[in-house]
Amino acid sequence: MSISQKLEEIRKAATTELEAAGDAKKLEEWRIRYLGKKSRLNEVLRSLSRLSLDEKKTVGAAANRLKVELEEWLGQKERAVRRDRMEASAAEKGIDISLPGRPFPAGRLHPVTQVYREIDAIFTSMGFEVVEGPEVEWDYYNFEALNIPAEHPARDTMATLWIDSEEKDNGKTRLLRTHTSPMQVRVMEQKSPPVRIVVPGKVYRYEATDATHIPMFHQLEGLAVDKGITLADLKGTLYEFACRFFGKDRRVRFRCDYFPFVEPGVEMAIECAVCKGDGCRLCGNSGWIEILGAGMVHPRILERVGIDPEVYTGFAFGMGIERMPMLRYGIDDIRLFYGSDLRFLRQF
Ligand code: PHE
Repeated sequence: MSISQKLEEIRKAATTELEAAGDAKKLEEWRIRYLGKKSRLNEVLRSLSRLSLDEKKTVGAAANRLKVELEEWLGQKERAVRRDRMEASAAEKGIDISLPGRPFPAGRLHPVTQVYREIDAIFTSMGFEVVEGPEVEWDYYNFEALNIPAEHPARDTMATLWIDSEEKDNGKTRLLRTHTSPMQVRVMEQKSPPVRIVVPGKVYRYEATDATHIPMFHQLEGLAVDKGITLADLKGTLYEFACRFFGKDRRVRFRCDYFPFVEPGVEMAIECAVCKGDGCRLCGNSGWIEILGAGMVHPRILERVGIDPEVYTGFAFGMGIERMPMLRYGIDDIRLFYGSDLRFLRQF
């Protein structure tokens, strides 16, 4: 008998017997007989080594195909047997398996997470890369490297939560970062220009809680360093962001501001959504709401990380993330985000 005849015979016998096998035990017996180590099919596969190369190719392929087929049939039959058994037992116990299941309440992303993912996406589409940094930070990165040495008045504007006692000093004191700007320095130390990154993350300030202050909130830092970057690039980037996040018809305003690590420094404000610029309680009668600080990276900082400020320039910005949904949806109390009140959270 030729090998292909043998294979044909195995196939026929296997099909008829599988038809007849009606339970799990019979199926297992069938598996051992037709797919097991001592099966005839396996014998054929083992005998292939004695054949010529040409025969091996054709016969071997046919034998392997049969093996795959047998495995598939077994799988189908197993599923059918299981289904029959379940239907039978459901019928016996009077269970209606066609009834829909009980709905399981699904959670959702926190509004702050949703917003910073949305902001990340806006900047990624402009070519920025998202990176994250440590929340426990050295004094050096949080202050000193950003032109805020000990005794600098800018320290007082960011009430700091210290981890080590302040006396240790010379930059080796640990704190909870008060802003995401330390990542500007960390990234530039590691990477030479061109740099284009955004850094979302938690920041901490030692402040009493009220409608606009909480000791932990989120910021998003942005940094771009390359040859020929100007303030116009900064304005263009932030303007594009504001259009996409707040809509094209919210007006935007840039004004001078001071931060020790940028020169010049600016603040960006958007038109108040409530009064449309006329002045109301929300905007303190000015018609504008400040949303971020920004500026051109200070040349001393570039020098400190070994980037030549005569060749490269850069811009940086930092925004409070909670402010964005507050301004967009008119939320007037920042504490709502962390009060775990589901009636509030479910609206997003
Ligand atoms: N880090 C500043 C703050 O927290 C914001 C800022 C970032 C300003 C980058 C300028 C440049 O207020």
